[in-house]
Amino acid sequence: MSDPLDFTDRHVFVAGGTSGINLGIAEGFARRGARLAVLSRSQDKVDAAVAKLVDLGAEAAGFAADVRDADAVASALQAAADRFGPIDVLVSGAAGNFPAPATGMSANGFKSVVDIDLLGSFHVLRAAHPLLARPGGCAINISAPQAFMPMALQAHVCAAKAGVDMLTRVLAMEWGPEGLRVNSIVPGPIDGTEGMARLAPGASARKMVERTVPMGRMGTVEDVANCALLLASPLAGYISGQVLAVDGGWSLSGASQAMGAMAMAFAGKAKGAEKAS
Ligand code: NAP
Ligand code: COA
Repeated sequence: MSDPLDFTDRHVFVAGGTSGINLGIAEGFARRGARLAVLSRSQDKVDAAVAKLVDLGAEAAGFAADVRDADAVASALQAAADRFGPIDVLVSGAAGNFPAPATGMSANGFKSVVDIDLLGSFHVLRAAHPLLARPGGCAINISAPQAFMPMALQAHVCAAKAGVDMLTRVLAMEWGPEGLRVNSIVPGPIDGTEGMARLAPGASARKMVERTVPMGRMGTVEDVANCALLLASPLAGYISGQVLAVDGGWSLSGASQAMGAMAMAFAGKAKGAEKAS
């Protein structure tokens, strides 16, 4: 059997693939022989990402575009397909975030994040559909724990990423008959990323996050890239419509912390009852 993680000459397109987790995913595929196309707003970031991917030995192309601009996204995807052929793996991970209470967020602030994360994902997936290789093509949305764990100061991201995961499920149903698979990856807290710099800046916030991860550490971009490789490979050939957390068990901790607090409260009551009797 040939190596299922060999992506030689496969076309992988990563929207938002010029930094952090998404660039890590692009690098993971580049190391395994794929041809990479990456897209984001900043031409400088696009150029730097392409240079990194070329350094890894990949053929790479970059496109400066905003995922909120459906026409620009469609042009970039078409140009990538003209160069590298049908898209074997589409990764949609462009996102924006800032911490703010709902009352401290203008309608435009809320809309900006929803437009990038959710509408942007729709633009990417919708325009990629005719260009995806089939059967065997796959799409991976990069979601977030906020999609299913409500977090204060994250109304915009919670709403947007919940929508992204529902898009994953609906498109898996609509595109499954064509031989396409669609899944979401939910990274946990990933070390050294812009997302963590915004949500948990500083050493004490970092320690607090680490304490809440059952595995006791933050994730790495490689942890997430490995999951993308697996999901894109034939090893995952019957996995579609799933939302897969790569988080060391972190998404379990919301419930387990609440249960822990309840257990402590019960223990306190039991003590009180002993004293009273
Ligand atoms: P990041 O480095 O800021 O990555 C975001 C990427 O999206 C960049 O390449 C950025 O490049 C691009 N982008 C942003 N707005 C865009 C737009 N309107 N149009 C096109 N591209 C746009 O952040 P990250 O922390 O690695 O996060 C990457 C993904 O993982 C996101 O989907 C995020 O929600 C998810 N995630 C992250 C964490 C974490 O721990 N960091 C945890 C859970 C989920 P430009 O600035 O050039 O546009
Ligand atoms: N608190 C409250 N509102 C904020 C804010 C904050 N910290 N940061 C931005 N906003 C508001 C702005 O005030 C503006 O609303 P307004 O027009 O009513 O004043 C709205 O959000 C859009 O801001 P703008 O800077 O014009 O948007 P943009 O499209 O240039 O950038 C962001 C989008 C705001 C999401 C920006 O943070 C970004 O580009 N992020 C990408 C990188 C990132 O977030 N990475 C982590 C991914 S997890």
